[in-house]
Amino acid sequence: MGYNIISAAEAASLIKNGETIGLSGFTPAGTPKAVTPEIAKLAEAEHAAGRPFKINILTGASTGDSCDGILARAHAIGYRAPYTTNKDFRKAVNNGEIAYNDIHLSQMAQVVRYNFLGRVDTAIIEACEVTPDGKIYLTAAVGIAPTVARLADKIIVELNAAHSKNMMGMHDIYEPQDPPRRRAIDVYTPSDRIGVPYIQVDPAKIVGVVEVNLPDEARAFTAPDPVTDRIGQNVADFLAADMRAGRIPATFLPLQSGVGNIANAVLGALGRNPEIPAFEMYTEVLQDSVVGLIKQGRVKFGSTCSLSVTNECLNDIYDNIDFFRDKLVLRPSEISNNPEIVRRLGLITINTALEADIYGNVNSTHVCGTKMMNGIGGSGDFTRGAYLSIFTCPSVAKDGKISAIVPMVSHMDHSEHSVSIVVTEQGVADLRGKSPAERARLIIDNCAHPAYRDLLRDYLRISEKGHTSHCLRAAFGMHDTLLRTGDMRATRWEDYIKD
Ligand code: COA
Repeated sequence: MGYNIISAAEAASLIKNGETIGLSGFTPAGTPKAVTPEIAKLAEAEHAAGRPFKINILTGASTGDSCDGILARAHAIGYRAPYTTNKDFRKAVNNGEIAYNDIHLSQMAQVVRYNFLGRVDTAIIEACEVTPDGKIYLTAAVGIAPTVARLADKIIVELNAAHSKNMMGMHDIYEPQDPPRRRAIDVYTPSDRIGVPYIQVDPAKIVGVVEVNLPDEARAFTAPDPVTDRIGQNVADFLAADMRAGRIPATFLPLQSGVGNIANAVLGALGRNPEIPAFEMYTEVLQDSVVGLIKQGRVKFGSTCSLSVTNECLNDIYDNIDFFRDKLVLRPSEISNNPEIVRRLGLITINTALEADIYGNVNSTHVCGTKMMNGIGGSGDFTRGAYLSIFTCPSVAKDGKISAIVPMVSHMDHSEHSVSIVVTEQGVADLRGKSPAERARLIIDNCAHPAYRDLLRDYLRISEKGHTSHCLRAAFGMHDTLLRTGDMRATRWEDYIKD
């Protein structure tokens, strides 16, 4: 191989206070996991000696606990972008300790290239193979690895034996040129390949290779429940009806879907629906459910940035790579989430909201407008250019104390102009072509939980009439009541409209 084989601790010692690291990976999949815990140890030792030590992290999306969790607990993160799901990281963001920049995932690589986020000192890239001439073959995800590897001064490769070399050839690495020389990105179907299967770097920049055997920190898989099943069924029934009505082509359209239980339930229901033909995915993450559908022939092809699957499922792919080779491709997040391609392919996008308002504006990120949950992820990349953008969520959270349907969202990630359909376990609100008054009626009648419908109708009664009716004094009354009493059902509009 010709590179210095170094320990994870030796690799960490190359990273200094104040530096920026760029990571491969997207979700815990493909994210390096050996060097970052050693950086945390270094930070703790420095802090104990009374010296400052914090680094900045640029990556594709969320990481595993061995990065965001361990480093947040060691108070070793100064700045980080983009999306994350780690609870300890979230705590440090919401108490103001970490500067967190919640960037659209498709934009991450390009804002690094545009030098909006400063220089990248060291790239840490998880690989299943690295060749003497500087070809790095990635593992279960791509993220922004091509860009940070190219721009970084130094590269550390985590060569992870837990990932099969069978992954070689599964990636399609392509970096667009920057404006004004940007060309069209030639993806016309989810299976089109436009790049090469490796990242080419200058081998002189690889300062060390850390040999590890660490499985991905796959997320626990929770069983579907009646609410998510109902949401999944509602989405599948709606799409089948729309296809019958000729609004979706009979060949169907490629799907994008987020992660989590609802996404699994939706895909399960689509897979079971005999009216919906076998379909393709053009998405940022593939979960176990999609791999199952590929094996059943219900999903014909999956283009993704990340195989965010259980290790059992990943090993199944590695063991049966000849079957999967022409059914999967892994792309950089800049391409998997690219709005140009999303609009061209006509994606049906399905993402999860924390809350939606009666007009169809969606909050995906902030609890009660202030506390960061995870981040916008790829939801904005896909929603804005979608053929049909669907948002799903349970109608209530926390045993009914919180309504997901509110008069006005407390933070807006996706505006009414981009949101076509809202789905809860209660039903479907098809907002296409509707005025605000029609939207409000549909969302309250079809999506709000029965315990909140009258409260929301009463809100409209006290609202000042306009194109979009609101009572500004009461618009956040349900959130305010939640914060004061712990239960939105205690909202009394009189409290907000009295002089
Ligand atoms: N107010 C306060 N808390 C709420 C809430 C609301 N309106 N709605 C949900 N919650 C809470 C839930 O009670 C739950 O809390 P818990 O962790 O203490 O149990 C938590 O938020 C997560 O909700 P859950 O129903 O389990 O949904 P989820 O795991 O599917 O996550 C999002 C929902 C919105 C947080 C998640 O989908 C997300 O981060 N989305 C943004 C990124 C994105 O869309 N990516 C898509 C491309 S992959």
